[in-house]
Amino acid sequence: MTRPLILAPSLLASDFARLGEEVRAADEAGGDWMHLDVMDGHFVPNITFGPDLVKAIRPFTTKVFDVHLMIAPADPYLEAFARAGADLITVHAEAGPHLHRSLQTIRALGKRAGVAINPGTPAEAVAPVLGVVDLVLVMTVNPGFGGQSFIPETCDKIRAVRAMIGGADIDIEVDGGITPETAPLAAASGANVFVAGSAFFRGGACRANGEAIRNAAAMARGEIA
Ligand code: DX5
Ligand code: ZN
Repeated sequence: MTRPLILAPSLLASDFARLGEEVRAADEAGGDWMHLDVMDGHFVPNITFGPDLVKAIRPFTTKVFDVHLMIAPADPYLEAFARAGADLITVHAEAGPHLHRSLQTIRALGKRAGVAINPGTPAEAVAPVLGVVDLVLVMTVNPGFGGQSFIPETCDKIRAVRAMIGGADIDIEVDGGITPETAPLAAASGANVFVAGSAFFRGGACRANGEAIRNAAAMARGEIA
């Protein structure tokens, strides 16, 4: 069965001085999931925020908190993010030696588990864990910063992951450089969850920006003409 189209605004591109209101704005503008980028300055060359901030913004929406952990190690922090209000926690396949353990821990905490792979990591890296994930995040840029350009070669990998998943109940998320121009490429390759930071918050026109991305993806999925 086809997985639903999900638009996940990345708060990385929002005004951090007003993060609570930005979460509310992203919700009211039609964002389905709130994508929260956690960076440690070690796994990726940038630092963002931790579980206390996730907890602080949790009351601003009832929508899914999609927490993308770009940290290594991730295991010591999984419980804190679960308690902070994450609904879905994604760890990178490259971030630690015991991927099953991380994913099983997330599920044992009662949360949905996701596995992410960088552009340089082959699709095969997720094959051994497809039985313990709810989502595969195919990074379409190298993680660490917003506003980068979509890497078109990742489309082949999205197709490979799509084929591996078959009919299983697993979402394919894309993250990095997603715009009304690139979302259709990812959608046609099999992605159904679209993270967008700069293209969503650009100019404060969140609703119009979000609709443009959603419509472009929906058209590529054959859902609208
Ligand atoms: C990048 C983050 C993304 C980022 C995407 O490392 O994982 O979620 O916010 O930003 P844009 O949509 O601007 O490429
Ligand atoms: Zn992200």
